Amino acid sequence: MSKPRVLIVDDDVDFRQSLCALVEREGFETRECGTLDRARAELSGEAPDVVLLDLKLPDGQGIDLLEDEELRERTEFVVTTGHADTGTAITALRKGALDYLTKPVDRARLQTILTHVGRTRGLKREVESLRSELRAAGRFGPMVGRSKAIQEVYDLVARVAPTESTVFVIGESGTGKELVAETVHRLSVRKHKPFLALNCGAMSASLIESELFGHEKGSFTGADRRRQGYFEEASGGTLLLDEITEMPVELQVRLLRVLETGSITRVGATRPTEIDVRVIAASNRAPEEAIADGKLREDLLYRLNVFPIHLPPLRQRGEDIELLARFFLEGVNEREGSSKSLSDAAVQRLRELPWPGNVRELKNAVERAAILADSVISPQDLPEPDPSQVAAAPGQVLQVPVGSSIAEAERRLILATLEQLEGDKKKAAEVLGISLKTLYNRLNVYQARKESEPES
Ligand SMILES: Nc1ncnc2c1ncn2[C@@H]1O[C@H](COP(=O)(O)OP(=O)(O)OP(=O)(O)O)[C@@H](O)[C@H]1O
Ligand SMILES: [Mg+2]
Repeated sequence: MSKPRVLIVDDDVDFRQSLCALVEREGFETRECGTLDRARAELSGEAPDVVLLDLKLPDGQGIDLLEDEELRERTEFVVTTGHADTGTAITALRKGALDYLTKPVDRARLQTILTHVGRTRGLKREVESLRSELRAAGRFGPMVGRSKAIQEVYDLVARVAPTESTVFVIGESGTGKELVAETVHRLSVRKHKPFLALNCGAMSASLIESELFGHEKGSFTGADRRRQGYFEEASGGTLLLDEITEMPVELQVRLLRVLETGSITRVGATRPTEIDVRVIAASNRAPEEAIADGKLREDLLYRLNVFPIHLPPLRQRGEDIELLARFFLEGVNEREGSSKSLSDAAVQRLRELPWPGNVRELKNAVERAAILADSVISPQDLPEPDPSQVAAAPGQVLQVPVGSSIAEAERRLILATLEQLEGDKKKAAEVLGISLKTLYNRLNVYQARKESEPES
């Protein structure tokens, strides 16, 4: 393979030349320039593998180059910033930059980044083709689902997986956050290295620091030998910090430092240790809420939220229920050497249930039913729908008790449709066959009624 190529864009000649020397020592071929204009000219030809890009250039913002989507596909951008200007650096990450480096550039960190660039070449294309191939089949890596909502998740995973970006997965319990994290890992250059998941909520506040960062011998009572923490164990791989809002706030400060410096300090140690770990965080509560409650530091969220992935609850992907149920049943059949199946009525029942525990609950229900049923799973083997919940659930089916007024049925249908379409009023009006104006009028009436009603 030819030597990987790097373009260095910086108006500070001394800095540029010393960076060139560093990069060449890593076995890369380099080119350099000092303005945005020249950079554009360089990039219009055969694109380099990576651009090391200064944020402030005499003729504009380095970040502007990231607007060119086609260019972003062909080359990786790493921004360099001299002003500890992390805000802009993070904006650059959001726009698709691979990483950022603060000046003076730390040599070890530069090495890590360049090694990754070397390994990432070609991976992006591979993931992209996997995505289009499997889309139709309703599968993406280990994930199952064909709904629009889950396909959007696949798109995000495909985009972020081959990069080094931090990912923040947000979703209700059981929606598949850990599975998303694992998929990101499996589609990254880190796939042959460990994937570790750590539940921050399951650990005592006093132990979590040494669990994460390790400790030196004798650093506290009971520390009778040196121990590696999760960060070191996950070396070269991916670390999932699950329930991040349960991490003690003081430790969140330290985690932020780790993310910024790429190094950890073991408990009781005086020197930091370089680490190469991609962090994925997960939470089942809205991060803004956690901040308001003082459970999550805003600066940490800011750093983690470079690439948020929201996992929709199962009730917003009703059309995936059958696919998922059949997938889980297949798993049981394979394990047990059985060949059980689902009756049409059972499928209907599955679609009517509200699944507050999301995919995990569905999986448990199917596995339990497979044990109960002789050969064909019928509705009796499945949970009973709770009538009060079904009416409120934005599933595929809406039940209205006989004896309701037409107006009440209409109200329920309108609200359920809106919820299923995630509040998209235009689409809801279309689906309901009414004008947008009528929809607004109805909603105003419901709102007014709710406000005039005494709290019960
Ligand atoms: N799209 C999917 N395809 C196949 N299996 C899935 C999917 N989503 C979730 N699962 C399965 O459902 C179960 C729950 O998923 P997971 O543990 O990832 O959820 P979670 O959001 O991390 O839950 P919690 O909030 O409780 O930690 C797992 O067994 C997982 O394999
Ligand atoms: Mg989880």
